[in-house]
Amino acid sequence: MTDTGNVRAVVRGVGHYLPERVVENAEFEATLDTSDDWIRSRSGIERRHFAAEGQTTSDLAVRAARAALEDAGLGPDDLDAIVLATSTADLTFPSAATMVQEALGMTRGFAFDVQAVCAGFVYALSNANALIRSGQAQRVLVIGAETFSRIMDWTDRGTCVLFGDGAGALVLEAQAGTGESTDRGILSSDLNSDGRYRDLLYVDGGISTGSSGVLRMQGKEVFRHAVEKLSATADTALERAGLTHADVDWIVPHQANIRIIQATAKKLDMPMDKVVVTVQDHGNTSAASIPLALSVGKARGQIRQGDLVVTEAIGGGLAWGAVVIRW
Ligand code: UT7
Repeated sequence: MTDTGNVRAVVRGVGHYLPERVVENAEFEATLDTSDDWIRSRSGIERRHFAAEGQTTSDLAVRAARAALEDAGLGPDDLDAIVLATSTADLTFPSAATMVQEALGMTRGFAFDVQAVCAGFVYALSNANALIRSGQAQRVLVIGAETFSRIMDWTDRGTCVLFGDGAGALVLEAQAGTGESTDRGILSSDLNSDGRYRDLLYVDGGISTGSSGVLRMQGKEVFRHAVEKLSATADTALERAGLTHADVDWIVPHQANIRIIQATAKKLDMPMDKVVVTVQDHGNTSAASIPLALSVGKARGQIRQGDLVVTEAIGGGLAWGAVVIRW
């Protein structure tokens, strides 16, 4: 690659993994004052997957990684780097990314985790794009993997019915582009955070507090920020790529709540038939939700080569952002 100025990080493969155990909304009715109808109507969620006992985030990540490598027709030593977005790494250290590196049998390159909660995958994509465009890596495996079932308060009906476990992965590869928005690959990104909103969504423990903690959320407040900030970040990323709403084939949003997805699509002037929706089957899988939706969207025949895809996400921090990709 000589002309590094026009190098693009192009999607060469995609894959995902969902743990076997499927939990329908109705299961929560046995232990909580809730109902399938409430969960469905307020969030759009119908079921989610939970990791088996002993199954960790890196286990899910490895399965998704293998699927993405197979889709790309590549092996682990074809990779220069692994960037793994998660807030539920197996251990405090080493990173889940280095565990995936070892499990894949990748004996070169480097691997690290990115922690930006539900925005983790857009942060990871943006970082991987920077590694490729600056010539530090030719091929990067970008993973979003979570086991949020491990940080639920099972007595809090306002949160524990919303989250699920899973993993998705993309293989990005350096390819020569023209510098125009017609290029394949990542065309632009926009990242934001505002730590003043930490109390809206957080885990009330961590290594330096001596407990692992559980997730706490002021759902209504997060909802309000989400619609505003997601549409703004998608607009900013599109503008940076020199594109408009009319150019977009697919919005692939973070899958937290169908009402947020619908309201954001409306603000972006996008009909729902241009939005990839998986929230009904996965629940909110935090950093895994976008790569899961990209992989499922491709498998369904929705996302095709050449399509313009806008991903956008928001979560704890608050942290939010968007990435524009020509598939
Ligand atoms: O991924 C990171 C980003 N996270 C999000 O984007 C989540 C954003 N927030 C949301 O998705 C929604 O705010 C929720 C789904 C969490 C809640 O929906 P809502 O329409 O904002 O409901 P609410 O919090 O205003 O609660 C309405 C009522 C409350 O009862 P009262 O106080 O009106 O009597 C809740 O106690 O619903 C009650 N409630 C439930 N009822 C049955 C809360 N959770 C449940 C439940 N089942 N599971």
